[in-house]
Amino acid sequence: MKLHDFGLERFFARHEFAVKHLMCASDCESMTTEALLAFEPGSAELLLEQTLGYTETLGNPALRAAIAGLYTRVKPDQTLVFSGAQEPIFAFMNVVLEPGDGVVVHVPCYQSLHEVGRAVGAEVKPWVAREANGWQLDPDELPKLCTEKTKVLVINSPHNPTGAVVTGDRFDAIVKFCRARGLWLFSDEVYRGLEHDQVVKNAAACDVYEKAVSLGTTAKTYGLAGLRVGWIATQDLALIGRLAAFKDYLTICNSAPGELLATVALKHHEKLAARSRELVRANLTLFEAFARPHGINFVRPTGGSVLFAHRKGGERWCEELLHLRGVCFAPGRLFGGDPDHFRVGLGRTTFAAGLDAIR
Ligand SMILES: Cc1ncc(COP(=O)(O)O)c(C=O)c1O
Repeated sequence: MKLHDFGLERFFARHEFAVKHLMCASDCESMTTEALLAFEPGSAELLLEQTLGYTETLGNPALRAAIAGLYTRVKPDQTLVFSGAQEPIFAFMNVVLEPGDGVVVHVPCYQSLHEVGRAVGAEVKPWVAREANGWQLDPDELPKLCTEKTKVLVINSPHNPTGAVVTGDRFDAIVKFCRARGLWLFSDEVYRGLEHDQVVKNAAACDVYEKAVSLGTTAKTYGLAGLRVGWIATQDLALIGRLAAFKDYLTICNSAPGELLATVALKHHEKLAARSRELVRANLTLFEAFARPHGINFVRPTGGSVLFAHRKGGERWCEELLHLRGVCFAPGRLFGGDPDHFRVGLGRTTFAAGLDAIR
């Protein structure tokens, strides 16, 4: 299996910890271990008492229960804990896809969502969300994209990099299509809980469709990327077993302190998500005021922590900002976009200072 370089992660490897103003991060502002433990009385003592042996491959039972608490239908044994959300993307595509299978992927996107399937030997077809359509997917395009070989449909909502949310009728139409064709629905929901308008909060795919996999992580909505805790939730117990067996060749099990801290976080998920949403909303307001006078346009995101802006010669402009001002936006081509587009991250407390540096 030969994977192409992960463009965005190579870009971050160069710039994330070197630039003065990181303006493209998709993970929301983090916190200290002490601040997280303060949410749960007695948890600091538990952390100090935590033994550091191997942990359970499926994940700590308390953590699996906390993950199940994020869904309406899924039970703890229908969850599987991984190291971040990246690992389960790799595991799922390897376990489910065979060379020659078809996979239809929501684009633009986070690269691994199409790259791993391609490297496994599957035929990947892009399902394009168009800017003219508010970056929304059109379910009427699905019959043309899917053949009898298609096995998996991949969607991401709230979406990276556009901040679009697949809501109501569109989401129902996608589920209906997958059910009629017997397709796996791999639903990347790592920004779930960051819908800007909580009224339109999406159902999780795993709660409404028996062949759906919902992907989650502590990294984005909860601002705890350094825990490296992610998961999948699915009603399909056989799939959980196959993924757990594949994980034996990856990380085997998670870090014990990471799982303990993730359990504390998910017990208080509403408060952590509200903190991130508030920050994203405030930064979006700042960016709206900033954008037009600087020749920047964008479709207003309705969820997630990022937006996909464009400006004539956007990539060149971003390169200049990086070199002259230490301001870092992520070029659109890293998500399959064109050279005018760039990703803006809205989840950090340093956002206003970055805009000032550009001014
Ligand atoms: C859409 C999407 N899926 C998955 C991931 C991977 O998340 P994690 O950092 O938890 O591995 C990311 C990270 O940026 C993402 O944007």
